[in-house]
Amino acid sequence: MLSPEAVGQVRALAARAEAADGERPLNEDALLALGADDPAVDHQLRHDGDELIGYAQHNRRHGSGQMLVHPAHRRRGVGTELLRSLDGAPVWAFGDLEPAHHFAAANHLIEQRRLLIMQRRLDPPTELNDPDIRPFDLTTDADQLLDLNALAFDWHPEQRHFNRADLTARMAESWYDPDGFLVATDAVGLAGFHWTKRHPDGHGEVYILATHPRAQGTGLGRRLLAAGLNHLAARGAPTVQLYVEAANVRAVELYDRAGFAVVHSDVLHGPPTQTSQESQ
Ligand SMILES: CC(C)(COP(=O)(O)OP(=O)(O)OC[C@H]1O[C@@H](n2cnc3c(N)ncnc32)[C@H](O)[C@@H]1OP(=O)(O)O)[C@@H](O)C(=O)NCCC(=O)NCCS
Repeated sequence: MLSPEAVGQVRALAARAEAADGERPLNEDALLALGADDPAVDHQLRHDGDELIGYAQHNRRHGSGQMLVHPAHRRRGVGTELLRSLDGAPVWAFGDLEPAHHFAAANHLIEQRRLLIMQRRLDPPTELNDPDIRPFDLTTDADQLLDLNALAFDWHPEQRHFNRADLTARMAESWYDPDGFLVATDAVGLAGFHWTKRHPDGHGEVYILATHPRAQGTGLGRRLLAAGLNHLAARGAPTVQLYVEAANVRAVELYDRAGFAVVHSDVLHGPPTQTSQESQ
C-alpha cells in the first residue's frame, strides 16, 4: 500500500503527464487503487533523487497494467524498465497516442483490446414514464444487481469483478446521483440497470448499462439507455459519452443506432499470445 505522500506524488506525476500529453495516463480505477489497501495491486515507483519520475501499477485481478514516465525523463529507458517490472502484463495506452504506439512496438507488444469512447449530443428532456424503470435501492437491489452484473459481463476482464466494495465506493463519490442510477424489473426480479454519471464539467456518461441474459434482445437495453439519457438531459448535460469494447459488436451497434459516434480509443498492448504467434 502506498503512503499518503506517495499517493500525492503519483497524482502530481499523472497531472504533469496529462498536461504534456493531453491525456490522462491513469484511469479512475487506477487512481482509486492508489490509496486502497488491495493485495491484488502492485505499485512500482522510480525516482531521480527525490523526484518521482515514473510509476507503474499492476492490477493482478484485471491482468493489466498502467504506466507513465515524467515528460522530462522520457527516452532514457525508464518506461522499458517499468514495463519489465509488470511481469508480462499488458499495459493500457489511453488515447492511442503515437509515443505509446512506438513504445509498444519497440517492446514487441501488440494490440490485444481496443476500448472506444462514443459520444452524442443530448436531446431536450421529455416526460418519459416507463413503469418498469425506477431508481436503484441499495437495501433491496444490491445483491441482484451484483449477480446481474457478473452474468452480463462474464466475458469482461474488469467489469465482471465489480463487487459490493466497488459499488459502495462509487456511491460515496461526489458525482453520485441516486436518481441517475436506474434499474428495470420484470416478473422475476431485477432485469437490467443503467448507472449514469455526471462529470464535474456537467457532461454525462453512460457509466454502466447491463441487462440480464433472460432479457437480452427484448429492447430493454434501448429503454434503459433512453431513460438514463433523459435523466442526464433533465440535469442539464449537453452531451453524453460512454466506454465500450470495440469487440462488443452488439453494444456498439446499440449505441450507433442511438446516435453515438466514436470520438476516442484506448488500446491494451501486450505480448503476442500463442494464437497470435501461430497466425503470424
Ligand atoms: C510511453 C511511455 C511510458 C514511454 O516511456 P519512456 O521512458 O520514454 O520509454 P523508453 O525510454 O523505455 O523507450 C523505449 C523505446 O520506445 C520507443 N519510444 C518511446 N517513446 C517514443 C516516442 N515518443 N517516439 C518514438 N519512439 C518512442 C523508442 O524505440 C524507445 O527507444 P529509444 O529511445 O532507444 O529509441 C511514456 O511516453 C509515457 O509516460 N507516456 C504517457 C503514458 C502512456 O502512454 N502510457 C502507456 C504506455 S503503453
